[in-house]
Amino acid sequence: MPYYFTLGKIPHKRHTQFRKPDGGLYSEQLVSTEGFSDTYSITYHVHAPTLVKSLDEPYSVAPKIAVANNTQNRSLQGFSVKPADDYLQSRVQVLVNNDVYLSLAAPRKSMTGYFYRNASADELIFIHEGKGVLHTMYGEIPFVYGDHVVIPRGVTYQLEFETENNRLFIVESFTPFRFPKRYVNNFGQLLENSPLCERDIRVPGNLVTHDEKGDFKVLIKKNDMIFPYHFATHPFDVAGWDGCHYPWAFSIHDFEPITGRVHQPPPVHQTLEANNFVMCAFVPRLYDYHPDAIPAPYNHSNVDSDEVLYYVDGEFMSRKHVDRGQITLHPIGLVHGPHPGAVEKSIGLKETRELAVMVDTFKPLKITKQALEIEEKDYYKSWVE
Ligand SMILES: [Fe+2]
Repeated sequence: MPYYFTLGKIPHKRHTQFRKPDGGLYSEQLVSTEGFSDTYSITYHVHAPTLVKSLDEPYSVAPKIAVANNTQNRSLQGFSVKPADDYLQSRVQVLVNNDVYLSLAAPRKSMTGYFYRNASADELIFIHEGKGVLHTMYGEIPFVYGDHVVIPRGVTYQLEFETENNRLFIVESFTPFRFPKRYVNNFGQLLENSPLCERDIRVPGNLVTHDEKGDFKVLIKKNDMIFPYHFATHPFDVAGWDGCHYPWAFSIHDFEPITGRVHQPPPVHQTLEANNFVMCAFVPRLYDYHPDAIPAPYNHSNVDSDEVLYYVDGEFMSRKHVDRGQITLHPIGLVHGPHPGAVEKSIGLKETRELAVMVDTFKPLKITKQALEIEEKDYYKSWVE
């Protein structure tokens, strides 16, 4: 996030004395990226953030790969993933490569007994069903249906759910998320032609300083392992902070679609990008208005990207059967297109209510064993009548 923001109390100058009401010093932490050479934030803690009490045995959460070389069009029934009480245990990795892991999750309960920090990847949690609050040392971000909650790597968090029926689509990116360069000016501002603008970005609020001592478990994910740490003080004991590195959110419902006289290419739907993949949002919009326009997409060959669509809501004009939470994967090396009849059916339609999130990766995705368990096996033949 390139935007400067501040919350709570901070001293006028960096790296100077900043005292608590009892006269003691706040403990300053610099949270920096690319060494000390890119975006950063400075946080002021009641206690030193370094007080490790003990470590438990680490354990593996590496994806179990079933198909390392995939050249098949596939479909997964995302809502067939079984709910689980615990958030981390509920996360099911389905499609992975060296740039990004895609997971589904249906956690029933809030995180109460531990905190979680992903040290290897930025996490984007798309809220398909559910409502709650993201808690971090930077403050809170409430979330609802349609939100993209972006949590940069290294940010310790807890999810509190108000609901039991929660459905999440989680994108772990091993490089930072950023807005497409063509929408950002040299000063870092989103341009007027960007489908998202700064007003759509939600930053942390309601900073609560937890001045608590005890035993606080933080599960740190690094290199496909979970390292259980116990700290002597509450991770959210920040009195104030400022900078450009913090969690944030935006809603798919705030994305302003770009439409045209004829079919617009997928990049108009783009929301974010990272190294070797992009993300898009397909939202309700008016269809193309050329008198002879064909609203259905053309057949297309993604010569150098695996295309993943996560279907959220609404009717999908180009596909025969689509369920909420369904994922389709159309990989490098194959042509895909509308299902039979979809092109004729689309002619004359004025608008679509479809809602979907897309992830296009520039390197092939691997299929996990858990993905095969929820696969619609005959999908690859579904274009033949
Ligand atoms: Fe496609």
